[in-house]
Amino acid sequence: MNEKTRDMSILYVEDDVAIREYMCGYLNNRFERVLVAENGAAGFDSFRKNAPDIVMTDVRMPVMDGLEMIRSITKTNHKAAIIITSAYDESRYLLGAIELGISHYLLKPFDSCKVDASLRHCIESVRKAQSARERENSVDEAFLYTITSLARAAEANDEETGNHIQRVGNYCAAICRQIGYSDEMAEIIAQQSQLHDVGKIHIPPETLKKPGQLTEAEMVLMREHTIFGVKIIGNHPRLEIARTIAQYHHERWDGSGYPFGICGTAIPMNARIVTIADTYDALRNKRSYKPSLDHDAVCRIIMEGDGRTEPSHFDPDLLQTFKKTNREFDEIYEQFATVESES
Ligand SMILES: [Fe+2]
Repeated sequence: MNEKTRDMSILYVEDDVAIREYMCGYLNNRFERVLVAENGAAGFDSFRKNAPDIVMTDVRMPVMDGLEMIRSITKTNHKAAIIITSAYDESRYLLGAIELGISHYLLKPFDSCKVDASLRHCIESVRKAQSARERENSVDEAFLYTITSLARAAEANDEETGNHIQRVGNYCAAICRQIGYSDEMAEIIAQQSQLHDVGKIHIPPETLKKPGQLTEAEMVLMREHTIFGVKIIGNHPRLEIARTIAQYHHERWDGSGYPFGICGTAIPMNARIVTIADTYDALRNKRSYKPSLDHDAVCRIIMEGDGRTEPSHFDPDLLQTFKKTNREFDEIYEQFATVESES
């Protein structure tokens, strides 16, 4: 190890002042950033604040020992490589280290060749983990980009509904958070709900944009967009939520929806969430067959009904959630309407 490792930080935890100072100098020659702590508790504190790439720790220390500190670190979804150090007569700690999955164990007094070899190995494994994470992130980004592109392609023949698909995604996320879904799950549903109308790609533009009532035949075809959506999305497990939403987002709680006319909890939860989000946005937006409506008018229709849309169409629990979160719907609508007019 001749050159300093500039892009990584190391945390060194040791209670013995002389050893700590010696190793601190040693590590300072090898790392751009060296953090030091005198016991496990101070070490864990520094770990949480600084998220170092490598942790090198003594075992027997006051306040909190090294193994206890590593146990705390491993509970934090950590990404650090860990090296344990201890004196010859403490080598029985090796077993505890193995149980914690630590593969680097250095005995004191230090042999600089062994220390360097361990550090080199740790640096390499941290770099590998970093690039694996970067690859994974770029695949995730590409996946999301493709979902949005496909949703936009399906909108091409539809009437101008602005940022309808993004708004629906955001309303869904607001409901999901309110009913206790994790942020991660809310995000997935927000993304995948964008494909709810992807099947409309099979519906002729003149039907999608028809100003007046649809004929019975046109209505039958229009309802098929749910089934077309399922075919387009296909069977990939990562798109299972999108497929379910596309298939069931026009079912109604009271059984008056399509394509199957199923009711209540037979309709998958994620589709029930999209139903309320999609209805809100459709009512607010101007469509070829109806004018735009303001937030309060839309809330009245969803909660009290207007002969076309009825409260019985929605999951009663989600209707309660809507009553609590509808201001957020208004904010999302305004936010995306503003973005649109600025662009
Ligand atoms: Fe739809």
